[in-house]
Amino acid sequence: MDLKPYLDAAIDAAYLARGIHLYYREKGFALESKSGPTDLVTQADREAEEAIRGLLLARFPGHVVLGEESGQQGESGFRWIVDPLDGTVNYAHGFPFYAVSIGLEAQGEMVVGVVLDTAHDELFTAIKGQGAFLNGRPIQVSATGHLIKSLLATGFPYDVSKDPENLTYFQRALQKNLMVRRPGAAALDLAYVAAGRLEGFWEVKLNPWDVAAGWLLVTEAGGQVSGLNGEAYALGSRYLVATNGKIHQQLLGVIHGK
Ligand code: IPD
Ligand code: CA
Ligand code: CA
Repeated sequence: MDLKPYLDAAIDAAYLARGIHLYYREKGFALESKSGPTDLVTQADREAEEAIRGLLLARFPGHVVLGEESGQQGESGFRWIVDPLDGTVNYAHGFPFYAVSIGLEAQGEMVVGVVLDTAHDELFTAIKGQGAFLNGRPIQVSATGHLIKSLLATGFPYDVSKDPENLTYFQRALQKNLMVRRPGAAALDLAYVAAGRLEGFWEVKLNPWDVAAGWLLVTEAGGQVSGLNGEAYALGSRYLVATNGKIHQQLLGVIHGK
């Protein structure tokens, strides 16, 4: 199957979303909360999703889109999984770490992934079996094999006070003096693992749209993505651990309190 037209469409859709992110950052936007006061949504989230959906379905009328803001209508062997703005809290504050994430699942397998950091115009792309790229140049996970020398990232769900499991893992990592960041955009955290800027990332309770594209980026860049016991990651799983592969077992060990 020639996947290039799908990658091209995902890139075009991501740049449409970028225009909308930039427009509302400039013009200003209303903030609304979703599940709670820290779970925010803006016009940029909604309009970016509409624009992405419109472009993808115009080019591929038989496909379906699963988007964070408007869900999924219908079924198809080709499903686009879209986070129109990952890192909305960062976006709302002008903290420049947010992205648009678009992944394509074909017959249940991720085959195309695009994460565009819209503030810095960094485009991360991958096609299944063809490697990962940043602005057209090949990228690879880092070569570091020592956890103590690694830069790691994690994140927390909006209802972390009700679902505090990851606080335990975060604390275990810090108690080992590991260098851990909480950047606030999971899709971009995964892209950074793919690009070798982070050695590893883990989070509990991510949604498919946070992960779809970044998961493919990491594996295509030579990294490893698993659940908490090293089992193969499946979209929608509660646990995700993504690393350069070399520190994977060490990081799982720390998460498990070893
Ligand atoms: C959130 C970000 C954040 C992660 C949360 C996600 P959103 O996505 O990816 O880094 O910790 O779990 O919900 O709401 O900004 O699209
Ligand atoms: Ca998200
Ligand atoms: Ca989002």
